[in-house]
Amino acid sequence: MAQFETQVGIVGAGPSGLMLSQLLHLAGIHSIVLEVRSRHYCEGRVRAGVLEHTSVTMLRNAGVGQRLDREGLQHAGIEIGIQGVLHRIPFEELTGKCVTVYGQQEVVKDLIARRLADGGDLRFECGEVSLENIEQGRPLIRVRKDGVEDEVHCDFIAGCDGYHGVARPSIPSQALNVYERLYPFAWLGILAEAAPSREELVYMHHERGFALYSMRSPHITRLYLQCKPDEDIAEWSDDRIWSELNARLSCEDGWRPTEGKILQKGVTGMRSFVVEPLQYGQLFLAGDAAHIVPPTGAKGMNLAFADVHYLARALRARYEENKDEGLDAYSATCLKRVWRAQRFSWWMTSLLHRFEHEPAFDRKRQLAELEYLTSSRAAAMSLAENYVGLPLEGA
Ligand code: FAD
Ligand code: PHB
Repeated sequence: MAQFETQVGIVGAGPSGLMLSQLLHLAGIHSIVLEVRSRHYCEGRVRAGVLEHTSVTMLRNAGVGQRLDREGLQHAGIEIGIQGVLHRIPFEELTGKCVTVYGQQEVVKDLIARRLADGGDLRFECGEVSLENIEQGRPLIRVRKDGVEDEVHCDFIAGCDGYHGVARPSIPSQALNVYERLYPFAWLGILAEAAPSREELVYMHHERGFALYSMRSPHITRLYLQCKPDEDIAEWSDDRIWSELNARLSCEDGWRPTEGKILQKGVTGMRSFVVEPLQYGQLFLAGDAAHIVPPTGAKGMNLAFADVHYLARALRARYEENKDEGLDAYSATCLKRVWRAQRFSWWMTSLLHRFEHEPAFDRKRQLAELEYLTSSRAAAMSLAENYVGLPLEGA
């Protein structure tokens, strides 16, 4: 058995764990990141694509903005489609801010490369991970692999291990309040080798169900279709996917997505989920370990970054000035932003998807809301300021 010492033990090498370890490094705080998956797997996992301007600033300030600045696609708005007719929401004109399209796997690659170049301690393929002494005393993370056991002793643990991780279940259930909403649909997502043929993202409301046109680079498009929650991807041939995308995304002005080779496809469930509080003893939860939003508002990775921004700041105050106020306020500070993003993501989801078996009244109300959104500056402004992201408190 080997024993290791660190100030902060970080469970999970997703966007939240990696960014936290980089922010702590810049503050002179040592951390060890423990990840079950391989580096290759983490770098290849296709997920989020939209960065709020605050996330872009955070990446730049953390010293990982060079490739993002070169390759990220700045978007000054999105388009909302209603049955084939597009309406632009001009973010920059309404808020002075833009978002940047840059794949989560690229963010992860950049953060891993930076941490390793700076001598960071990132451990992949960790085997079985468990947490001990989180309530009192000095916590420890136990890692078991191939019959060998390691102990990582630390002052604090950051649970950055996503929705299915071990950190949240390590907290006694009576200490947590859970708020959850499931949706009666999922997203079938593809990555296609096709140059984007539209400049901005298209969120399409359609009789056949919601569709989203997004992109990753000048050569790759990312598209999603609303599907059944238990959709079997094996039933979706490439031809069927393109035919459904064309049916939902084709526009009155003649535009439809350019087709190309499908590089990757998968089904993602949709849920809204929050646990409160985000702290138990010496364990702090961040990112998807603590909250999940449906992807319609493009908020998940951005919320993960906001959490670790506050956590790194609080830990810095703890180590540099011996002040605990930031750590004590961590949960409440994050939850304010989390609930704003929850509301927005739920609203975008409710507005744009087709709800089977809903009363005709609700369908009409949904169309009236879309009509309002696409014809009122005040309504468009409300979407825009939430989509580009709220300012970070005290940043
Ligand atoms: P994760 O990325 O889940 O990382 C957790 C890490 O912990 C993983 O590497 C995992 O392997 C590891 N782990 C798990 N269990 C253990 C364990 N026991 N021990 C050690 N390690 C463990 N967000 C946006 O902001 N914008 C978008 O446009 C957007 N689009 C999305 C589209 C889709 C299809 C999906 C699925 C998500 C989308 N999201 C989006 C959400 C975003 O991907 C997540 O919110 C983000 O990945 C959260 O980062 P995280 O680091 O908290 O968690
Ligand atoms: C994506 O490009 O993957 C993406 C974009 C916007 C969303 C969700 C996902 O709302």
